[in-house]
Parts: sequence; structure tokens; C-alpha cells
Amino acid sequence: MGRANKVVLAYSGGVDTSVCIPYLKHEYGVQEVITFAADLGQGDELEPIRLKALKAGATKSLVNDLIKPFIEEFAFPAIQANALYEGKYPLSTALARPLIARRLVEIAKELGADAVAHGCTGKGNDQVRFDVAIGALAPELKVLTPAREWGMSRIEAIAYGERFGIPAPVSKSTPYSIDLNLLGRSIEAGPLEDPMVPPPEEVFTMTSSIDHAPDEYEDIEITFDYGNPISINGISLNPSSLMKEANFIAGKHGFGRLDIIENRVVGIKSREIYETPGLLLLIKAHQELESLTLAADVLKVKSQLEMQWADLVYQGLWFSPLKEAIDSFIHTTQQYVNGTVIMRLQKGNARVIGRSSSSNSLYSPDMATYGKTDQFKHVAAEGFIYIWGLPARIWASKNK
Ligand code: ARG
Repeated sequence: MGRANKVVLAYSGGVDTSVCIPYLKHEYGVQEVITFAADLGQGDELEPIRLKALKAGATKSLVNDLIKPFIEEFAFPAIQANALYEGKYPLSTALARPLIARRLVEIAKELGADAVAHGCTGKGNDQVRFDVAIGALAPELKVLTPAREWGMSRIEAIAYGERFGIPAPVSKSTPYSIDLNLLGRSIEAGPLEDPMVPPPEEVFTMTSSIDHAPDEYEDIEITFDYGNPISINGISLNPSSLMKEANFIAGKHGFGRLDIIENRVVGIKSREIYETPGLLLLIKAHQELESLTLAADVLKVKSQLEMQWADLVYQGLWFSPLKEAIDSFIHTTQQYVNGTVIMRLQKGNARVIGRSSSSNSLYSPDMATYGKTDQFKHVAAEGFIYIWGLPARIWASKNK
């Protein structure tokens, strides 16, 4: 076939991507398969994964730590955008894809590869995200997608891999399909395909169950600068340490689990379980600080654009002109988002209990108070209401 000589394959160490290595060589006639695995804080040991790719026939096996750009360039903008797909899912998996795609393209250029490849199937969102992002960054690069084309069942794929020395996964391995990184875990398939089956406790690792969460509440103070979280309980942390700390505290209290029916890009509904404790907590706190610091009309327009932003990211359009334009809007608004929010965590809940911004609060005590210091000009309300209600009265005089 010889569709490409040198290919950079996005590699996770799982069966499907491992099988892609011999498959690309033997069925696609690829000469050299270079694998690339990203460390996104998933906590996997990456050295065994690197070696696994070589054993499966990769000519070169690369592993890059991308945690810093992942949090700074992808997670923090999502917090600034209060991004929740369909109002619920904080995009923990979706945000990783454009970064992996970007690095794949860079490696392909560095090494003079003529194609990139991934092991996504034809049913998911990730194939869309990879293909669209790669196309936007390097339209000249071919994208090879063996798992979308080979038509093998999982058993057949395992058998194919075994012919090339790829060990079958241990039989008691999980029935779930799990994607994880520092932002969270996405769990689907197996028994969860029945939307009536409750997620068993064993699928969660970042969050404790309500039963095991402490009875006592814990207050956490999160400080933001230019819309980015910069400290927790008064301690400044770099972005990845902050994300870890937020995961730890929120996870301990069982906050951040989701069980949803989600609408995939390819048109199907799927049942998804997520745990994204830190990200969800930071988005909630950020939303609260915006309520205090952004003007009412800005908040209104921003909330519409946030939905659009989340859709774009979910649907694979991270690198797109609309995303870029919305980013500019969001960036402009974030200069005012400075201050501190206190969240109270307890038994699966995170409630806002306080917020302040010394530099940007638009909350005016003199205007809001019902006490003696009230400066609001009550009599001015009469004229305002006369004009405000004028159209309603004119309409009523004609129609009632
Ligand atoms: N549905 C989620 C998304 O599209 C997560 C998919 C993650 N993949 C997995 N193997 N669980 O972002």
C-alpha cells in the first residue's frame, strides 16, 4: 500500500494503539512508526509504556511531559470560560486532545514524517478532535486511522496483537473504557452502557464516596488573578500544583462526580461518568468571582459565548477562528476577575460562602444596604419606573 513512509502515532499504551503499530507496518506498508505518549498527569508509569511501544515494533518511542502547557494553556482558559459542555461536563478529556494533536504535528515536522496516526474508533469524539485539530494545524499532513478502518472486534484486535508480541490484557482487566489526566477521569462502557445501572464505587479513584467523605465541612479559599487561580488558602501555587491541590481537597469531600447522558458529535447519546473534582470546584469559584466583578450585561453576553466555547472545544474546533474570537472577548473580561472566593466542601457539595475583590468588586455597600448608610436615591425610582413601565401601560390601554 505504502500510503506513508514515516508515521508519528499518538500512543497510550493500551491494546488498540499498540495493535496500531504492527498494523500500520504490515497493512499500510509504513516503514517507520514513531510513537508519542503524552504525560498529562494521568499518573501512569510512562517508562513501561515507552518500552511497550518499542516491543510492539516502533522505531522510536517518545514520551513528553505536557502537564504544564495542559494546565496553563488549556485548563485555565476553560476555567476562564466557565466551560461546561451541555451545562455539565467540564471537558476534562476534550481539552487534552488539541494539545496532543499540536505536539503530534510538531514531532512529525521535526522528524520529517509524512503522516500522523491515532487509534481512535469511528464512534467517538476524540477522532473528530484529533482529525480536525491536525487538519487545522497542518493541512498537508496525512492522518492514518487504522482502528477506524480495520473492522476488528476487541478480541480480534487482541489476537492480531498477539501475533506481533503484544500481550493480551490481563483477563480481570476493567470492563470500562477510561480516559484520565490531571483534570479528571472519564469512564464509560461495560455495565455503564445501561443508563439505569448505577456507577459502582470501584470506578472512582479521585473522589471519595459520600459515605466515606468526612462529616465535617472544610472551607477552601481560592484566589484568582486575571481570572486564573493562583493560590489556595493563601498559599501561592503554580498551575499544576494548584490543580492537584484542588483535586485533592474537593476529591476528599466527594465533590465532582457526574453521571450524565451526553450528546456526542457523531450524533449518538452516550452515558458517561466523570470525576473532575478540582476543575469543577475552580469553575464554580471563578463563576462566583465574575458575578461580583463583571457588569451585568457583560455577564449575560459572556454566558452565551461560554456555551459556544464549550461546544467548540467538545466538537474539536479548538483551533478555529470562532474560538479565537471568543477567546479575545473572554481575555478582555478577565482583567477584572481578581479576588478571593471561599467554598465550603461537605459530603459531595461545594457551596460558595464568601467572595471579595478589593480591586474590582462592583458590589456597592452604600447602594445595597438596608441600613443607615444607604445612599441609594429612593425617590429617583419613581421616574425610572414611570418610563420603564410606559410601553406596558400604553399596550394595556389599547388591549385591555
Ligand atoms: N465523552 C467524553 C468526551 O468526549 C470522554 C470520552 C473519553 N474516552 C473514554 N475512553 N472514556 O470528552
